[in-house]
Amino acid sequence: MEKVKIGLLGYGVVGSSVYRLLTKERVRILEGTGVDLEVTRIAEMDTTKHGADAPASLFTTDGSAVVEDPSIDVVVELFGGVDAAFELISCALRNGKNVVTANKQLLANRGAALFELAREKGRQIRFEASVGGAIPIIKVMRESMFAAELHTVYGIVNGTTNYILTAMLRGEGDYAATLARAQELGYAEADPTADVNGADAAAKMAILASIAFHSRVTLQDVTFEGIASIQPEDIAYARDLGFVIKLVGSARLLDEQVNVRVAPTLVPAGHPLAGINGSYNAVLLVGHAIDEIMLSGPGAGGLQTSTAVISDIVSIVSTKTTGFMQNCSCYRALPLLAEEEMRSAFFIRVRVEDRPGVLAQLASIFGERDVSIESLIQKGHGDQAELVLITHPSPEKDFRAALEAIAGLSSVRSRPMTIRVLG
Ligand SMILES: NC(=O)c1ccc[n+]([C@@H]2O[C@H](COP(=O)([O-])OP(=O)(O)OC[C@H]3O[C@@H](n4cnc5c(N)ncnc54)[C@H](OP(=O)(O)O)[C@@H]3O)[C@@H](O)[C@H]2O)c1
Repeated sequence: MEKVKIGLLGYGVVGSSVYRLLTKERVRILEGTGVDLEVTRIAEMDTTKHGADAPASLFTTDGSAVVEDPSIDVVVELFGGVDAAFELISCALRNGKNVVTANKQLLANRGAALFELAREKGRQIRFEASVGGAIPIIKVMRESMFAAELHTVYGIVNGTTNYILTAMLRGEGDYAATLARAQELGYAEADPTADVNGADAAAKMAILASIAFHSRVTLQDVTFEGIASIQPEDIAYARDLGFVIKLVGSARLLDEQVNVRVAPTLVPAGHPLAGINGSYNAVLLVGHAIDEIMLSGPGAGGLQTSTAVISDIVSIVSTKTTGFMQNCSCYRALPLLAEEEMRSAFFIRVRVEDRPGVLAQLASIFGERDVSIESLIQKGHGDQAELVLITHPSPEKDFRAALEAIAGLSSVRSRPMTIRVLG
């Protein structure tokens, strides 16, 4: 069994979640990768802010104590900010450590120098959590899209502004009121400037463009505009015309030239981005070889983002040798869950005799098996009378048993037709 020691820089929203999730998943990761991941050092100014899950003995206030510690194999940078993070990551790479970071501002401003240093030292920098929170956009673009000839990457990459625009669309207040609500809910930072002025989304689009087009784009190369000037009436007029307003980042490759920008944009109501609401993010990848692929999911949050950080650590330890990441990823044999144990809601259409009491018979059969009815309509009369029902989710075996009983009723004129309901 190999042991890999991890040093965390930062025990804030993401850092403390990474510690908790790594501790919880330690055995599963060991079973999957053959590597025991252990956090052995944490640098943090204020150790009390995010609970005292980690033993006090792991903490230091000095980031260099982590990156200079010869026993540490992987440094996970979750301080945020640019200059201190740059110095500490450089030092970690010079000391032969692999690095994971969620720091989009750092990569969009000074990524080139860090990647060059990593190449020189034969070490990895992984940064899945820097864009899209829990969405595995970086890995998909770097690995799966290599031959896709991407020419456009666009989407919603800032959860705070998407939350504000969604709340304004729902009539929950103007820009100032919905921003205050986003802060209360923890979606927006105490200083939300970089979110609302588009700089956060611009940094993420610089990272995505660099990967998509294999050509470095920095924050300075991106034009960006925020959402502070959007008024409720703009949103209402857009809606009347069949659009929703979203903060859209886009990166385009046109005639071997790159354009990257972030701006409030009218999105047609039927477009997939129009349905991305609240703090969710979504990115569409467009390429000559793939048409269009969309990835969407939670764009921020400690727990959500920590899954991306941990996947990077697992990628690092799993790409050192041939194994888990290259060959079969199954490391256990789970039993199959029988179909009848699954829960589902159902749509049912059945032809019935058109007389009083038939509906009560059906309802009572469902009730006896704890299958509750969410909605019901009756269509047609006489020989054409049909009942159409939608049930609440219930164990499939109970639903099937009820259906058999219903099919056997003399008042039922056809075999009930059933379709599963999603959700
Ligand atoms: N939160 C999210 O949902 C999310 C999503 C994706 C990516 N990210 C990225 O993840 C990184 C961390 O974000 P976060 O939300 O976890 O931030 P956070 O809650 O502010 O955590 C950062 C922690 O690091 C500490 N720290 C910063 N510099 C330090 C230094 N030089 N020495 C010792 N301690 C230091 C901070 O302490 P003080 O506060 O006392 O300075 C703070 O407790 C950022 O790059 C962010 O952009 C966050």
